[in-house]
Amino acid sequence: MKALVLSGGTGTRLRPLSYSMPKQLIPVANKPVLEHVLENIRDLGVVEIGMIVGDRAPEITRAIGDGSRFGARITYITQDEPLGLAHCVTLAEEFLGDEDFVMYLGDNLLPDGIADIAREFATGRPEAQVVVCKVFDPSSFGVAELDEHGAVLRLVEKPHEPKSDLALIGVYFFTQAIHEAVAAIGPSARGELEITDAIQWLVGRGAEVKATEYGGYWKDTGSVDDVLEGNRQLLDRLRPAVLGEIDHASVLIGPVIVEPGARVLRSTIEGPAIIGAGTVVADSRVGEHTSLGRDCVLSGTSIGNSVVLDGSTLSGIPELRDSLIGRSVSIGAADRGTCHRLVLGDHTHVRIAA
Ligand code: DAU
Repeated sequence: MKALVLSGGTGTRLRPLSYSMPKQLIPVANKPVLEHVLENIRDLGVVEIGMIVGDRAPEITRAIGDGSRFGARITYITQDEPLGLAHCVTLAEEFLGDEDFVMYLGDNLLPDGIADIAREFATGRPEAQVVVCKVFDPSSFGVAELDEHGAVLRLVEKPHEPKSDLALIGVYFFTQAIHEAVAAIGPSARGELEITDAIQWLVGRGAEVKATEYGGYWKDTGSVDDVLEGNRQLLDRLRPAVLGEIDHASVLIGPVIVEPGARVLRSTIEGPAIIGAGTVVADSRVGEHTSLGRDCVLSGTSIGNSVVLDGSTLSGIPELRDSLIGRSVSIGAADRGTCHRLVLGDHTHVRIAA
C-alpha cells in the first residue's frame, strides 16, 4: 500500500498565520499537524508516500525533508492551483500506479491512529473505504448516508441540509477503481473536483464503498478554535518530562514538558503544558493547555489555553487566553498612558478586555 498526503490548499480560515506558513505546519502540542499525519502513516508500515504541495512547497519540503525521519520515502507532487481533492488523485496517478492507497488530508489530526481502519480495509478490500464521525454541524463537511451494514448509500459535499450527522473525515482508503472515478467527474459548484463526488460516482456504479465510524478523536484543524481544541486533546495525553531548568521559586502542577534549554524562573506552570526548547518563562503563570514554542520569552505574563509559536515575546500581559500567536510576535505592555498600540497584519483578530 502507498499513501497520498494532501498538503496544498489555501488555509483561508487560519489567516493571518497561513500568510506566512502552510496550515499543515501549524504546531499542535509543539509538533506540526503534518508530522502527526506522517507518524500515523508510518505506524501502518507504509513507506512510499506521495505528498501534494502547492505554492508553499519550499517550506513543506524544508520542514519534512525526504521522509527518512519517518522511515519513509516522500515523493513531492506539485499542484499549481488548489483545484480539489480529486484533482490531487489525478496528479498522483503515475506515482500511485495500480496500488491500493490511503489518502490522508494533511490538516487532519487523529491522535488515536488509523491502524484499525487500515486492517479493516485490507481484510474486506472494498473498492473504497471512507471513515466517518458524528458531528454537531455536518454542513461544513462531506456528509455520508449509510445503510445498516455500513455500506455507503450517498455522499454529499458540504450540503445545506444534511441528511445525516456523519461527516467524512480526512482519511480514505482506495483501490485503483478511484482513478476512473476522478477522471469521470466535473467541478462542483465551488469549482473544485471533489473526492466526495468521485466516491459517489463509484457508489452510483454499484461499487462496494464501505464506511467505518471512527472511535477515536478527530479534528480538522482548519480554524483557530480547531487548532486550540486539537492542542488541548494532545496535551491531555502528555507524558511529563523536565529536561530544562526550573528554579526553586517556581512550581509545576500537573503534567508538564520542559524541553531542553528552557528555563522557568519564579513562575507557576499548570499542566498539561509544554515549554519549548530554549524558551524562558520568568515571573509568569502558564495555565492549562498551553504550548509555548522554541526560543520564546514570557515575562510578567499570565497565559492559558493557548498556542504560541517559536521566537515570540510576551511581557507584562496580565490575562491572555484562547490565543494562537504566530512566530516572532512581540506583545508587551504600553510604555505610558492607557492606550493600546497595535501593529497587526492583514486578517488579524484581536479581542481587548474592557
Ligand atoms: O476534514 C474533512 C473534510 O475535508 C471532509 O469532510 C470533506 O468532505 C473534504 O472535502 C475536506 O473538506 P475541507 O474543506 O476541509 O478541505 P480543505 O480545502 O481544507 O483541504 C483538505 C486538505 O487538502 C488540506 O490539507 C489542503 C489540501 N488540499 C486541498 C485542496 C482543495 C490540497 O492539497 N489541494 C487542493 O486542491
